[in-house]
Amino acid sequence: EPGKKSKNLNVVGVEISETSDDDEVNQINDETIETDVVVCEVSNTKSNTAAVIEDTKLIEKEKENPSIEVDRKPATYIHVERDQEIQITRLKLPIIAEEQVIMETLSENSVIILTGSTGSGKTTQMPQFLYEAGYAENEKMIGITEPRRVAAISMSQRVAREMNLSSNIVSYLIRFEGNCTPQTKIKFMTDGVLMKEVECDFLLNKYSVIILDEAHERSAYTDILIGLLSRIVLLRKKKGNPMKLIIMSATLRVEDFTKNAKLFKEPPPVINVESRQFPVTVHFNKVTADDYVREALIKTIKIHTKLPEGGILIFLTGQQEVMYLVKKLRKLFPYSSKSNKTIEAKTKNEETEIKHDYSDDDEELDMIFNIRKAIKHKKKNKRQLVSQMTLPKINLDDFQMPGDDTEVDFNEEDDEKSEKDETDEHITQMMGELGNSQPLWVLPLYSLLPTHKQARVFEKPPENSRLCVVATNVAETSLTIPNIKYVVDSGKQKTKFYDKVTGVNTFVVTYTSKAAADQRAGRAGRIGPGHCYRLYSSAVYNNEFVQFSSPEIQQKPIDGLVLQMKSMGIEKVVNFPFPSSPDRVQLEESEKRLKILGALDNRDVSKITKLGQSIASFPVAPRFGKMLAMCHQHNLLEYTICIVAALSVQEVLQEVPLDGENGNKDTKWKTKRRTMAGSGNSLLLGDPMILLKAIGAAEYAHSQGKLQEFCVENGLRMKGVLEIRKLRIQLTNEINLNIPNLSLNVDPKMNPPTDQQAKLLRQILLSGLSDQVARKIPDEELKIKEDKHKLKYAYQIPEIENPVRMHSCSILKKKQPEWIIYQEIFEIRNGDDMKMFVRGITAIEPEWLLKFAPSMCNIIKTLEEPEPRYDSDEDKIYCHVRATFGRSGWTLPIAEIE
Ligand code: CDP
Ligand code: MG
Repeated sequence: EPGKKSKNLNVVGVEISETSDDDEVNQINDETIETDVVVCEVSNTKSNTAAVIEDTKLIEKEKENPSIEVDRKPATYIHVERDQEIQITRLKLPIIAEEQVIMETLSENSVIILTGSTGSGKTTQMPQFLYEAGYAENEKMIGITEPRRVAAISMSQRVAREMNLSSNIVSYLIRFEGNCTPQTKIKFMTDGVLMKEVECDFLLNKYSVIILDEAHERSAYTDILIGLLSRIVLLRKKKGNPMKLIIMSATLRVEDFTKNAKLFKEPPPVINVESRQFPVTVHFNKVTADDYVREALIKTIKIHTKLPEGGILIFLTGQQEVMYLVKKLRKLFPYSSKSNKTIEAKTKNEETEIKHDYSDDDEELDMIFNIRKAIKHKKKNKRQLVSQMTLPKINLDDFQMPGDDTEVDFNEEDDEKSEKDETDEHITQMMGELGNSQPLWVLPLYSLLPTHKQARVFEKPPENSRLCVVATNVAETSLTIPNIKYVVDSGKQKTKFYDKVTGVNTFVVTYTSKAAADQRAGRAGRIGPGHCYRLYSSAVYNNEFVQFSSPEIQQKPIDGLVLQMKSMGIEKVVNFPFPSSPDRVQLEESEKRLKILGALDNRDVSKITKLGQSIASFPVAPRFGKMLAMCHQHNLLEYTICIVAALSVQEVLQEVPLDGENGNKDTKWKTKRRTMAGSGNSLLLGDPMILLKAIGAAEYAHSQGKLQEFCVENGLRMKGVLEIRKLRIQLTNEINLNIPNLSLNVDPKMNPPTDQQAKLLRQILLSGLSDQVARKIPDEELKIKEDKHKLKYAYQIPEIENPVRMHSCSILKKKQPEWIIYQEIFEIRNGDDMKMFVRGITAIEPEWLLKFAPSMCNIIKTLEEPEPRYDSDEDKIYCHVRATFGRSGWTLPIAEIE
């Protein structure tokens, strides 16, 4: 290899053996001073001597010719004192056998790709190899990115434990939380966090090596980081401060990284860790069950009662389904901590005591369980109605709230049976036939689950019980749950589809890819031969599953990413070395929206504006950044920060599924929310106002030490509330830093806004949402559409032909203001039936549009009456104009502009 770098090489071979004494070694050094390469054969223990020679030679070389490319291996070896038990488990991991190959390849290359199936030890071991090889010396750090926060936290804890180091040294950093210290040497973080760090220090000087983990997931940030780091590595080398990049993937499909000349001129070497995967027998269902949750339940019962020991892992699509099944299973196979009293007593004084107790789940379980039951119930009523009228299927839009992919079920399958249902009867009967069995230790796992509850899946289940984890696709690759022998796979996942042009989101439960299904099956073969039960037929797998799902960057809006890149000086985003480029339409639409916000130059969208720079400086989506940038002068920062924080965190308000027919909790929330909404401008501020008030009240409850009760009472997701709190403090600190004499109060408590402030807040929201304006369709126009769409009322959005409805979760649904802005538009499909909804509604006044959404307005005529006026204080002329809004040219009221 060195031969590639220089034309005339002097190569000398030497042998050092145990008998060589220091003189001999020095002699070799003297002799070989003129040579370029020393090939050493080291027999036995003189490896230290070899290191000395190698080092001397390299130093000489560098002196002669400082620009020569030598990758000096860190000569140090850092000793790690591990517990024996840990060491024994480690040594069984397949990656351990490859350590030398990996480390050697890494010392010869700046970039390597490491593949190996899930559980082979990549995430937990690679940082340790690097640490031991001295990569964390000389004030440098080892950085590892994860696409999921769960993984960043749990992996840092695991590695700290394996290495016997404290969390001060092996630490993590995710958006609102972290335990990094100046002593941190191994840093786990989400890919979004590293992206922010690149903005602050483009060369990432404090890192000696970056590992991009789970690259096969193709998260948007990881993709962009690969592009950025491909350049950073070159720059660091040029500056004589080389950095390594390791791309880790659970699948062998890495062509997008290797066969992309724009990314890496020479394809980086790929090292595959062969892992000992035991055979997994895959059982397809003969027919594909519609109600896969029920099917999963039945399958689990059979496995648990009939098959030998071994953990069960069930893959469903979202939080509600997971909780529903968890509750059902816990009811069928009760586990009571009392029955294990003796065991508990024995372990009482031990440090490692695990509290085997479901009690802290109960509240949450009840709620989610009820929501699902209620939805089923209401749906059944609807269906009866439908069958009387013999219309096609009606969907669930009125009471379903789309959320992120872990939140909501859209795929409530047909269930013609009564609720107290035949399912139960059937199951009871089945249980009778199957007889008794040991307790089942049932745990949920989904991304919004509080961290400490997520960690429970790694703990040993209580003695004499079988572990059963009901999970979303979090458990697919990033977390390996120990001791799983049976996998039950619904074959489904929830995805948020995004229309690149209209911005419309669709939430659908789709089949996963073949690759994902195989990953899921693989989870069963870690400890021994396993079984995977697929709740769908092999025909469906063959014909309907795609091979791989497409990278996130091609599926999601990338406004934030585009702006972040431009603020780093990457003007022509089209030319950026993406592993898979977002398509042109997607980029153009992003740039268009950023231009509307005023973040990009009106004439040249490749240039970022000053406003754009300040928008990009906030760790929130560009439209929220705009709101923050807009509200300085109004003394409204506290409120804006709170709204922006609340809107940036997903699904804080638990949904209200019913208007009261089922259970009182739900009704209570709804009434409470109506009260919170207030009147006047407060009500017109709409759904964001509810968030603002709820967060304000939650803060009060927090100060009284009653946050948990408050959240349950009012239907708030506590983890979400705490995240909002952190984001608020972070944003406040950042703003204080940028505008030093402002010094906002970091204390999250606040009073509700006055009516006047609420009005200004509506305008601030408009400034960030000026491309998401809708107008109520006048009655006479609606009549024409009525036949087609069966509408009582509807809204029109400039670029979308179909009328849209306000989602029933909106507080303004009753009021139906003429002009509104919305946070999100989505469609729900049910067969051929397709409906569009907006949610997160605020009422606006059309007079405001010229001022707060100027780029969406077309001025038709400047009026002479009333006469233009000159404001000498501001040195500006104001005049009245006639204007229209958007492409459809809605007439606006005459308004005064600058
Ligand atoms: O990254 P990769 O999927 O290759 O494997 P890993 O996450 O490094 O996991 C290696 C092993 O450590 C697996 O057998 C995990 O079950 C185990 N592990 C664990 O027992 N507890 C954790 N908190 C994390 C990993
Ligand atoms: Mg991993």
